[in-house]
Amino acid sequence: MGFWDLKAALEWQIACGVDEAIQDTPIDRTALEPAAKPTGKPAAAPEAVAEVDAVAIARHAASEADTLDALKATMEAYDLCDLKRGARQLVFADGQPGARVMIIGEAPGRDEDLQGKPFVGRAGQLLDLMFSHIGLSRETPDKQRALYITNVLPWRPPQNRDPLPDEMAMMLPFLARHVELIDPDVIVAMGNHACQALLGKRGITRLRGTWNEAFGKPVLPMFHPAYLLRTSAAKREAWADLLALKSRLTDK
Ligand code: URA
Repeated sequence: MGFWDLKAALEWQIACGVDEAIQDTPIDRTALEPAAKPTGKPAAAPEAVAEVDAVAIARHAASEADTLDALKATMEAYDLCDLKRGARQLVFADGQPGARVMIIGEAPGRDEDLQGKPFVGRAGQLLDLMFSHIGLSRETPDKQRALYITNVLPWRPPQNRDPLPDEMAMMLPFLARHVELIDPDVIVAMGNHACQALLGKRGITRLRGTWNEAFGKPVLPMFHPAYLLRTSAAKREAWADLLALKSRLTDK
């Protein structure tokens, strides 16, 4: 291959979502599986491939999970979401399972994919700071002040692209089961994609700060901390939403 062919091959990989080289030497994957021996018989006509209902399979698998560990294992075994193939690992959750507040974000980014925990990059640091101002934390064992944090999607989308509707639809049964097992008093939906998944609505500027309901729980939509990092002026509304959350928790 000449320079231009190599450049085109590299660009094609980048377009497919590859964003870093993992090993110094390439693996010839075609050499790993021995080629099937010819049988001498004519090839059978291909059978009609049955349509796989990824959402129904996810719903069934999620319903069988009786504990958080079982749910995590079930999600790790679920193979129908292509994001799994591009991610380093499943990012399940962080914080305290007995928490009154469950935060649901969009999907892991690069830092979360590396560390295996949600909201650990810059947006996560802002999230921790924001909630610390109303006395809530993912670290504290005190259930009254604890947070539990997860995402709509447990695998990082390539190059942090937006989640696709079918990816959200097939992971939603796992999220619903996750909420059932945690049984929080309230859910905070971080940003548009979490609102789309939980409430079937978009338009975070209109939705934020207004109580909704999903999975039988009160849901407070808030601006995503990544948006707040880019738009400082919106921190004022975020602070109002944090106060609304605090007063809801003290009223109960
Ligand atoms: N953004 C999210 O929505 N979730 C994360 O875990 C990190 C960044």
